[in-house]
Amino acid sequence: MGDKATLGDRVDELLINPDVIERVDIIDSSGKVQYTVPNSPTTQKSLQIYAYITSNESMIGPGEARTGLEKYGEELVIEADLNRGKHPSIDFLADIVEKDQKFHSHVVTPYSAKPIPEHVRKAMPEIAKKFGTPIHVYDEQGIRNTCKEFNSAFSWNKGFRNFFAVKACPNPSLLAIMKEHGFGADCSSAPELSLSLAVGMRGEDMMFTSNDTPDSEFQYARDIGAIINLDDITHIEAYKRATKRGLPKLICFRYAGEESEGNSIIGNSAERKYGLLRKQIFDAFEIAKAEGVERFGLHTMMASNERNPRTLLRQAEIMFKLAQDLKVQTGVDLEFINLGGGIGTPYKPWDRSVDLKELGEGIKNLYDKMKMIGPDGVYPGKIFFECGRVITGPHGLVLTEGRHIMQKHRKYIGVDMTMADLMRPGIYGAYHHVTPLGKETEEYDHIYDVSGSLCENCDKTAVQRFLPAGIKRKDLLAVHNTGAHGRAMCFNYNGKLRSGEVLVHPDGSFDMIRRHETEKDLNATLDFPGSKYAYLGRKKNG
Ligand SMILES: Cc1ncc(COP(=O)(O)O)c(C=O)c1O
Repeated sequence: MGDKATLGDRVDELLINPDVIERVDIIDSSGKVQYTVPNSPTTQKSLQIYAYITSNESMIGPGEARTGLEKYGEELVIEADLNRGKHPSIDFLADIVEKDQKFHSHVVTPYSAKPIPEHVRKAMPEIAKKFGTPIHVYDEQGIRNTCKEFNSAFSWNKGFRNFFAVKACPNPSLLAIMKEHGFGADCSSAPELSLSLAVGMRGEDMMFTSNDTPDSEFQYARDIGAIINLDDITHIEAYKRATKRGLPKLICFRYAGEESEGNSIIGNSAERKYGLLRKQIFDAFEIAKAEGVERFGLHTMMASNERNPRTLLRQAEIMFKLAQDLKVQTGVDLEFINLGGGIGTPYKPWDRSVDLKELGEGIKNLYDKMKMIGPDGVYPGKIFFECGRVITGPHGLVLTEGRHIMQKHRKYIGVDMTMADLMRPGIYGAYHHVTPLGKETEEYDHIYDVSGSLCENCDKTAVQRFLPAGIKRKDLLAVHNTGAHGRAMCFNYNGKLRSGEVLVHPDGSFDMIRRHETEKDLNATLDFPGSKYAYLGRKKNG
């Protein structure tokens, strides 16, 4: 850790975009607005603090207040106590913790969310009518624009390539778009390699990064000539045993990252299960060299959904320094450095996005400053990424329909999607913005939970969320930013059938690129002959 961060630094790290926040209202349990923080230059820090702690679930209770206080320093409430009187937000949050109070805090923006692109918005009622809901919808134009933006941000680096993380959205229609934009495929399993082959990726277009890898997948990756990225020093021997061959001419190793960088999804370095430790990296490159490997790559993935450019730049700096140390100690000239995936996207309407152009420039500055180009002009040649979320995430949404509007301890909007269609809110408490179509410009001033039919209480797409009043059965709702790690994480618990996918083209026409699952699909692996439900039994001889 460097010097202790100041309050100002901490607040800046929240990466909330105060430009789109009109004010934050703090509302007591009776629904009265008790406190308003307007967006003025003198209140912007408070605004960011409240917007940040609100953004998870609109609630400031002791837990959320503590999280807010955490942002001021390592000592949580103790630090807040030390700072008492220095900042009104600290006092307010410390009071909440002390008195165990609960407030709703509502971020008011001039618009409910980043507007859905017009051609997609227009197509949505028709998509719902034609294919039914819930359904995952993607915007082809948006995806193409982001591919271009990413390539352009790194066009200074000869050989730059993003290997799209297939796990983020494993649909060949989308992978084919990536391929058109020169992307490769980052694959973590044999089925992901097969999908990439199916769209015409070949050999080193595919990078195979897996962990706890089965022998059969080492064999498959080797057979098709994918770049092999080993996750552990023992995998050198595991790979040779599995493939009955020596190491390939090109090998890459995944660096675990021993610095404390990283965030809660990927885990802090002490808990991270992935990659080789620093010392093991040097040993691994020595072994590979001795075994006749001629081409080398270095890889890492230290953070996930990271929107702080400082963290992303720091990761690049760590990797460039490691490349230099490797050159000095082992004489290895790296052909590429893969900086992994993990570039974050704004899920909340007031979040800032990562400016890819600025990130590209920042990494170029580091690259130049650290003299990463050797005397031969190519060392260490290429920069790779394997981003998924930033490419497709903001360009997907789930279209769902209101089913039961209910009043229990809380108000519920029961919808036809469940956590089985979008797992992130249930497992990570992730925020996905919800827009009721046709009510985009209404006041978002009523609090609801948006729930599904799964027998799990965490089956809630939104918890204590401000939405317009009057949402009815059959109303369409769009759940935003579901284009990555959305459909890919669908599951079948409670006999839920996984939803289909639709691609909206730039001219507003659309195609179903994956049909909805049927009960027959769900039960296709069962073997129960003689049932009146014929599909439950496989034909023994057919
Ligand atoms: C090794 C690896 N690479 C790339 C990714 C893609 O990350 P993102 O979609 O956040 O860019 C992941 C995500 O889990 C990963 O584990």
